Amino acid sequence: MSIPPAQARLSAIASHISSASAPSSSSGGVTAVSSISSPPPPPTTFHGYISHAPFNPPESGLQWGPFTPKKWTEYDVDIAITHCGICGSDLHTLRQGWGGTKYPVVVGHEIIGHAVRVGSVVSSLPHPIAVGDRVGVGAQAFSCHNNTNCDECSTSQQNHCRFSVDTYNGTYPADLGRSYGGYATHVRVDARFVFGIPATLPSELAAPLLCAGVTVFSPLKKIFSHHSTGSNSKKAIAIIGIGGLGHLGILLAKAMGYSRVIALSRNEDKRADALRLGADEYYPTSENSDPKASSWSKTLARSVDGIVCTVSSSRIPLRAYLRLLKVGGSFVMVGVPDGGEMPPVSAFQLVGGGISVGGSAIGSPDEVRECLQFCAEKGVGSWVSTWPMREAERAVLEMEGGRARYRLVLVNEDGIGKQAV
Ligand SMILES: NC(=O)c1ccc[n+]([C@@H]2O[C@H](COP(=O)([O-])OP(=O)(O)OC[C@H]3O[C@@H](n4cnc5c(N)ncnc54)[C@H](OP(=O)(O)O)[C@@H]3O)[C@@H](O)[C@H]2O)c1
Ligand SMILES: [Zn+2]
Ligand SMILES: [Zn+2]
Repeated sequence: MSIPPAQARLSAIASHISSASAPSSSSGGVTAVSSISSPPPPPTTFHGYISHAPFNPPESGLQWGPFTPKKWTEYDVDIAITHCGICGSDLHTLRQGWGGTKYPVVVGHEIIGHAVRVGSVVSSLPHPIAVGDRVGVGAQAFSCHNNTNCDECSTSQQNHCRFSVDTYNGTYPADLGRSYGGYATHVRVDARFVFGIPATLPSELAAPLLCAGVTVFSPLKKIFSHHSTGSNSKKAIAIIGIGGLGHLGILLAKAMGYSRVIALSRNEDKRADALRLGADEYYPTSENSDPKASSWSKTLARSVDGIVCTVSSSRIPLRAYLRLLKVGGSFVMVGVPDGGEMPPVSAFQLVGGGISVGGSAIGSPDEVRECLQFCAEKGVGSWVSTWPMREAERAVLEMEGGRARYRLVLVNEDGIGKQAV
């Protein structure tokens, strides 16, 4: 039997999976699911790594313990978690960098697992889920589903619904309870935010696509198809910040057909990786903090159609970044720093360059499905290292220290949440 090209590429990419302490279920392939034929009855109390106060180990780290999921509805799916990626948003939330963290909280919203309980109406939804299916959940767990005559939900933009509930640290309407994320044995989520995982995508590579992947996929697709800037039909994109989102930004931009993909990072140390990911050019930006004198800003001036900025800090040389845009180009902020502040934008720059500055939030459920399918077809695979779920706190510290290359993915070692017992 011949190997499909995308599968061959994913097999090659699996060489980018490293493991922190050799979790038994991760071998670059799909986690074993032999126990799914006779699953244990789903628990009513879940277990996970709970944060009770702003993250500051060892005094206040992640503590293993029980929590009560949201109240069950017949739209829900209970998932036995096998994998969960660590997103930059988990850090902001754990540290209360965005404010509004309601402890106790269980973070994690790049979740893969198997459906172990499925509500009675789920089989009649447009994208049904059945017990035993390998499924994923991203950063959103609920929206109003157009029950409020919602402009967003009625136009497949549920990610902007005003009644959206995040996968963790969210409160459901109608006293249904709180949302708890994926550093856990199980998660309970409305089936309309649960996604079937294409068979060729290994779980550890698919997990980061559910948040990081779709967050860059959505603006990259829009910039590619909507912007026709300059006289040349070839499209150039700059990805700023090469972390979990940024490395997928390079991979996806290349796979989408951008003719010039430019990676910008603070320092020199990610150059080799960025080029291996597919970037055509690489510029370290902190070599000179004075934007007027920055050589990268001069070299690249008026040469890109779009910028996707994934930087998690508010200390960004925004004026220098905006100089890179061609007339009509757009800067899309996807990074959300602690406190949410950004440097001021100059009206002279906006008006003079005819440029736009905007933002983008994850993606709609349709875009998540599209992103998963696109990555399966094109053989796009995240660069990950897997960590046993029991090492969650150490993995978060590793991520906080900027040492992730480029996504850390927690693995429940027997694939169905052994730690619950
Ligand atoms: N819009 C959305 O819907 C959405 C979805 C997911 C995540 N996010 C946000 O996107 C941001 C990135 O998430 P991520 O998971 O990609 O995080 P990450 O892996 O930590 O990457 C963030 C990158 O930002 C750059 N950076 C610049 N200044 C920094 C600083 N002072 N401290 C730390 N990093 C700095 C680094 O890139 P270099 O080393 O290359 O400079 C770093 O790799 C976070 O703010 C996260 O909350 C937003
Ligand atoms: Zn995320
Ligand atoms: Zn809505």
